[in-house]
Amino acid sequence: MPISPRLGVLAAGFSSALLLAACSSNPTTSQETATTTAPADPAAPGTSASAMPTSASFGKTADGTEIQLFTLTNKNGLKASISTYGGTLTSLLVPDKDGKMSDVILGFDKAEGYLSPEFRKSNPYFGALIGRYGNRIAKGKFTIDGKEYQVGLNNNGNSLHGGTVGFNQKIWTAKPGTSADGETLTLTYLSKDGEEGYPGNLTVTVVYTLTADNALKIDYTATTDKATPVNLTNHAYFNLALGQSKDVLAHQVTIPADRYTVVDANLIPTGELKPVKGTPFDFTTPHAIGERIAQVPGGYDHNWALNQTTGQHSAATVYEPTTGRTLEVTTDEPGVQFYTGNFLDGSLKGKDGVVYGKHAGFCLETQHFPDSPNQPKFPSTILKPGQTYHTTTSYTFGVRK
Ligand code: GLA
Repeated sequence: MPISPRLGVLAAGFSSALLLAACSSNPTTSQETATTTAPADPAAPGTSASAMPTSASFGKTADGTEIQLFTLTNKNGLKASISTYGGTLTSLLVPDKDGKMSDVILGFDKAEGYLSPEFRKSNPYFGALIGRYGNRIAKGKFTIDGKEYQVGLNNNGNSLHGGTVGFNQKIWTAKPGTSADGETLTLTYLSKDGEEGYPGNLTVTVVYTLTADNALKIDYTATTDKATPVNLTNHAYFNLALGQSKDVLAHQVTIPADRYTVVDANLIPTGELKPVKGTPFDFTTPHAIGERIAQVPGGYDHNWALNQTTGQHSAATVYEPTTGRTLEVTTDEPGVQFYTGNFLDGSLKGKDGVVYGKHAGFCLETQHFPDSPNQPKFPSTILKPGQTYHTTTSYTFGVRK
């Protein structure tokens, strides 16, 4: 019997949790090493310092709640900024082939951008943490132990990304820190029993780490007191040539998946896993996003069933030819939603006044398959009391000259 991917994720979670516990039993280690090797300027590129993330005000919610922005820096000068509103990754500075740092994430300079009526209306979930259930649940209905639940409907009669007010609109409690890998930001949120109709108090912890080897690692943990579906992810839109190219069609993408989940007109899976061979969904070898996108009505917005489902494995690799930037996404999840910003329509103006039109960015949302609570053949997404949900995804940046 193969181990179910979900059990694999849980098992991986336990071993990582032990590892984390081992690392955090001596939290001063990396700080002390940093101090001895780089006393002058811990944040300067080229040093091996791991200082604490910095924080600044990012704005206020409509009810006056303070929103903070934390910035993590690594020894190579990469910077990741994360807001307590939605746990949102708002910017990510990475080098190109000439060492020039620039932002590769769609988003806004201030919280107002994420709170604006235009943003709320089009709701592209820029950079946000997604929960309690990433992707769609058909009609927002599922049954656990004979009891039917109805969760918030917000997408053509279905529930998308947690419902009407998902984790992307919550204020997360933030704790900056360091680990052996680099600067960290630990975000926590308690999703109460009944929130958006979901059963159980779900305690969620998300740790962002900017590592010395140029990875932004996102580590998600959750526990519950009633059985509930859980499928957490991040909704960052990448454009590795942001500021130079208004769309991502020239990016070359590889996805190691022989099959994808077939969906209906409302993007709800039919249950069929279809071979990608001979279709525009075949990214088992590199293809430019734009090469076959016209053959996919609306553009790519599908879940690929990754060939490898246990342990950390590749979800995708991306190469942008003009900047030479590369992105490698690894995960322990069985699926990845590859979305090419099909619903961006130019109504949003982001950082540096850049207008975000169709295909201005792409998302690689690592996750379990859509509508798993209603698809008995898909790996289970049900978390039970006493179990620990744990999943890790890393976005590693490099260059090809
Ligand atoms: C996901 C969905 C898309 C869309 C975006 C947000 O990627 O699959 O259909 O809803 O989120 O715009």
